[in-house]
Amino acid sequence: NNKQISNICCIGAGYVGGPTMAMIAQKCPHIKVTVVDLNEQRIADWNDADLDKLPIYEPGLADVVAEARNRNLFFSTEVDQAIADAQMIFISVNTPTKTYGVGKGMAADLKYIELCARQIARVAKDDKIIVEKSTLPVRTAEALSTILNSTGNGVEFDILSSPEFLAEGTAINDLQVPDRVLIGGKDTERGKAAMQALVDVYANWVPLENILTTRVWSSELSKLTANAFLAQRVSSINAISALCEKTGADVDEISRAIGADSRIGSKFLKASVGFGGSCFQKDILNLVYLCQHFNLPEVAAYWEQVIKMNDYQKHRFAKNIIDKLFNTVSGKKIAFLGWAFKKDTNDTRESAAIYVADELLQDRAEIHIYDPKVTKEQIIKDICHCEEERRGNLPESETTKELLKRVTIHSTPYAAMENAHAIAILTEWDEFKTYDWQKVYSEMLKPAFVFDGRNIADKEELTTVGFDVYNIGKGK
Ligand code: NAD
Ligand code: UGA
Repeated sequence: NNKQISNICCIGAGYVGGPTMAMIAQKCPHIKVTVVDLNEQRIADWNDADLDKLPIYEPGLADVVAEARNRNLFFSTEVDQAIADAQMIFISVNTPTKTYGVGKGMAADLKYIELCARQIARVAKDDKIIVEKSTLPVRTAEALSTILNSTGNGVEFDILSSPEFLAEGTAINDLQVPDRVLIGGKDTERGKAAMQALVDVYANWVPLENILTTRVWSSELSKLTANAFLAQRVSSINAISALCEKTGADVDEISRAIGADSRIGSKFLKASVGFGGSCFQKDILNLVYLCQHFNLPEVAAYWEQVIKMNDYQKHRFAKNIIDKLFNTVSGKKIAFLGWAFKKDTNDTRESAAIYVADELLQDRAEIHIYDPKVTKEQIIKDICHCEEERRGNLPESETTKELLKRVTIHSTPYAAMENAHAIAILTEWDEFKTYDWQKVYSEMLKPAFVFDGRNIADKEELTTVGFDVYNIGKGK
């Protein structure tokens, strides 16, 4: 006698809420799915008849939205109504690093989560299953339960943790054929029934053996652990890349050699200019904070090193450009290929490109940026934000304005690279491999440098054309 879910609401129409709910709606035509957000523009964009205007660029997403939207998938700003109507409510709001007070710069800021809980508690008139979709510190479900069950109006809430493991750029595939779906709940009759209700939703397209159920705390902590392990692999291979550059070993050959060991596995061993994205750094900082909170300083220091190594890698890349350009980039034109934190997304949060640009701008470079999907407004916003953070949040608009005079954003790659002293590849977009390098070379200043922060360019071809090519983790 399981509760059959026919009405789902998701609070937060971002990179997770939007695609995840679109997939549930597509696979479960019998369930009405309403995604709500406070951000009116975002909701308007999700509802735009022109699918190119969806707020997120993600391969395959537009087709899924086109199929389900206004059939059983709805995007709305009517948060109260959607909460009242739903049997199951996903909370998929942002959980950024705290920028103030206790835990500043480390702990997750749970104010948006708490607001959702208070709103649900106020609005709900019947029992509901609440699903934590956002990434949260372990034991958040306890805080949610305290808030939700404090009204005394007899309405009962079952709280589940079901963290999302999709990666941007491959979100649709990750949602369609997930390695696993994780659902954590209480080991009580009610808890088990709530878990089963969510299992039944996913079972519409995910094989049962790929749906794992655990206790709530394990589920919450598995998400932080998964991201910490993934980021740790990138930092580990990046650490080796520095040693490769000193010794003449080739990091890509090492990745292949160690990845062939089935115990290590071949994925997530690509050396790079450093990992970015909205989550790795935030989630590890959160993990470090938790370890400190529970008085485990050795464990905290262990994971913190993953972030330190990543900062080092970004800095090393920028410094190498300055070093090789005869110790200054002042007044020199540096072309940036890519601004997104990885290919196939328009997301720039924590992108390594932002930090590399900042260091070069401090050395007075002229930066010319081309990215196939990131808007000009976003790039300007990222640069201004980084500059203001560096100044300790003291906006010095004059300095920022001066700095922006040295930034140009291009809509074609060739214009960005024309007359450049150097090209820096920051994102691994496939189209970067297809350029006419002979033409690029003939239009650049000589010596023409390429700094390949993703090891995607054909080094042999470029060297033959005449470029001076520097890679990550490859000795000269
Ligand atoms: P996002 O910033 O893209 O989206 C969050 C949305 O929530 C925003 O549109 C915001 O307006 C809305 N929101 C905030 N408070 C609200 C409220 N009280 N009521 C209604 N709407 C509200 O964030 P995201 O990238 O989708 O991430 C969401 C969560 O999922 C985070 O905890 C993140 O760590 C986690 N996560 C993200 C990814 C990813 O690839 N981006 C993957 C897995 C997990
Ligand atoms: C990551 C995880 O892969 C998802 O499982 C998780 O759900 C998500 O974080 C999250 O919690 O937000 P995402 O950040 O979207 O997904 O993208 P990744 O593919 O993990 O890449 C992260 C960064 O690491 C990118 O900058 C990427 O270029 C870099 N990376 C990745 C490398 O430098 N080398 C690699 O081998 C892999």
